[in-house]
Order: sequence, then C-alpha cells, then structure tokens
Amino acid sequence: MSDNGSNPFLDVANLVAGYGKKQVIDGVSLSVGAGEIVALIGHNGAGKSTLLKAVFGLIPIWSGEVHFNGSLWSTPAPRALLRAGVAYVPQGNRVFTDLTVRENLEIGGVTLPNKQAMKDGIERVFTLFPMLKNRLKQRAGTLSGGEKQMLSLANALVLSPKMLLLDEPSLGLAPTLVSEALKRIKQINQDSGVTVLIVEQKVREVLKIADRIVLLRTGRVSFDGPAGDLSDDRKLKAVFL
Ligand SMILES: Nc1ncnc2c1ncn2[C@@H]1O[C@H](COP(=O)(O)OP(=O)(O)O)[C@@H](O)[C@H]1O
Ligand SMILES: [Mg+2]
Repeated sequence: MSDNGSNPFLDVANLVAGYGKKQVIDGVSLSVGAGEIVALIGHNGAGKSTLLKAVFGLIPIWSGEVHFNGSLWSTPAPRALLRAGVAYVPQGNRVFTDLTVRENLEIGGVTLPNKQAMKDGIERVFTLFPMLKNRLKQRAGTLSGGEKQMLSLANALVLSPKMLLLDEPSLGLAPTLVSEALKRIKQINQDSGVTVLIVEQKVREVLKIADRIVLLRTGRVSFDGPAGDLSDDRKLKAVFL
C-alpha cells in the first residue's frame, strides 16, 4: 500500500490498464484517505478518466491492486462497488434525458432494498439540492447544464455512498458555476464525511477544495502532495512544466 493517509479508503498500487492492446495507465499508485478529497489533475489524454474507469471496474485491470476500505478487489465490478458504498459519476454529466428528474433519481437508487429506503434517499438529496424538489416531473433533458450536473451528482448520492469517484463535474459549466459546483462537493464531503476522488481540469478551482493533489502525466503519477504545496502559482507552474 502507498503511504498517504493513515487510513486509506481507496488504495491503488501499480495499476496498469488500457483499451484493447493500448496501454494507457502505466503503473499508478495512489491512495485516498477516509474523508479526504483528492484531486486527480493532468492534461487532456493523460489517462484520468481511464484510471477512474479501471478503479470502478468499467474496464479490466491488467495488473496491480485496488483496495477499497481495506479489502482487495481483484476484479472491481460496478454493481458490487455500488453496494459497497462506492459511487461513480462519469464525465459529461450523464443523465437520462428522456426520463423525469424523479425517474433519474430512482435509477440512482436502484440497488436500494425497498421503497422506504428509496424515499429516504431521494428526500436526503433534496436537502442538498432543493431545486430538484420542484422539478421532479420535469424531463432531465430540459434542465440547464448546471442543473444536469447537480442531478448526476444527486443520482450518485441517493445511495448515501461512502466514496464518490467524480470525473470532471465542472466540465461544460459556465465559469461562474464551476466554483459553486466544487464548493457544493466540499460541503457534501464536510457534512457527510464522504471520501472523494475528483478528476478536474480547473486546477486553481479544485485546489480550493482538495486536501491532496495527484498529477497524472501520460499514465504515470508525476506529483502527489498536499494541495497547500501548490497554492502559489510559481510552485504550481513548476510542477506542471
Ligand atoms: N474507449 C477508448 N478506446 C481507446 N482509447 C481510448 C478510449 N478512451 C480513451 N482512450 C485513450 O486513452 C488515453 C487517455 O484518455 P483519458 O483517460 O480519457 O484521458 P483524460 O481523462 O486524462 O483526458 C488517450 O490517449 C485516449 O485517446
Ligand atoms: Mg477525461
């Protein structure tokens, strides 16, 4: 196990993964401590989305190890991970545009054991996203970009996960909404203690909410350290260049 955090919720060691014969992730090790927000940053094509997909079991792991909450997942699988309290929000704010907000939330809670648990789960996300309450019958496709982003996050939160894997939640948002969206993620982290691994291109914005930063460069970790270490622009540039 890597040595970041005394009690990692997610621990990835020497992970190698890719598509077909094309290797993208080239031996990545990182860990996310329980309750921590770790930001995974890096240029376009660095492999950030691929890493998240491998960890959540959407593409196979070629070699290496993934531990969640101390347990080894030799072949991570999305549904089993959801049951274990790990939720994944893909890049691009995917919601079912033809379905209503309520139907989207019900799909988010599909692994819940019964109607009461579903009702409680949906009720709980209303406290975080009150605007959704008035939109339950509205088709998700008619929401604004920012609202779709909230709905995709809300979908993941219906299950009250222990960990969120977020792939560029700010993508496509107007600049004024980016910091608001990230602040909301920080608030959810503080209120519920949820552990967060967030992929983000808006580096300066995500530095404001992250505890630690991991920089990925062509499938390898080239920096891993406290967000505070990159707080001034000179240090940030030194790491990126
Ligand atoms: N489905 C796919 N099939 C083949 N190659 C892919 C696929 N998705 C991404 N890639 C390639 O993997 C590399 C990393 O992509 P990605 O993980 O999406 O980067 P990032 O999220 O950091 O921008 C890129 O070279 C990209 O072209
Ligand atoms: Mg990506």
